[in-house]
Amino acid sequence: MAKAAESDAIALLKADHRKVEDLFAKFERAKGDDQKQRLAEQICTELTIHTMIEEEIFYPACSGAIKDQDLLDESFVEHDGAKVLVAELEATTPSAKFYDAKMSVLSEMIKHHVKEEEKRGEGLFAQAKAAGLDLDDLGERMNARKQELMEQFKSTGLPRPEMRTMTALAAAE
Ligand SMILES: [Fe+2]
Ligand SMILES: [Fe+2]
Repeated sequence: MAKAAESDAIALLKADHRKVEDLFAKFERAKGDDQKQRLAEQICTELTIHTMIEEEIFYPACSGAIKDQDLLDESFVEHDGAKVLVAELEATTPSAKFYDAKMSVLSEMIKHHVKEEEKRGEGLFAQAKAAGLDLDDLGERMNARKQELMEQFKSTGLPRPEMRTMTALAAAE
């Protein structure tokens, strides 16, 4: 029984959300650049893996199955917005100008995004449940992918984020 709950897709994603909220709160209270740097690395890693498992596994399963496709499209765009700030934080250090501001804007963006996913009745997770998706199977697949990515990034570091919806700036490069 407990095992089923742990591998449920929504439980897994919500646990990730709580973890990153906690890390953002810790960053806000952090004293000194070393501590900030360590927390920022954790935040960027958590967000990178979380967005990847959602984009590779959970969102595609929702696509075409849930009621509100617009909400799903917005989720992809919100992820891409967050990736810009994650890449910025990855490329700079806590002593850099605007670093704390970038982190705090990222935190606000994620707060909004999480609300859209978890909103009772009409959020993405509620819609996925209502659509009858196999949440245990999705949870298992996401968990396996998550372990794999965690292992991979330990040796390679975080990859350059892959934009799914934004092309204008890349095209201008
Ligand atoms: Fe999420
Ligand atoms: Fe998301």
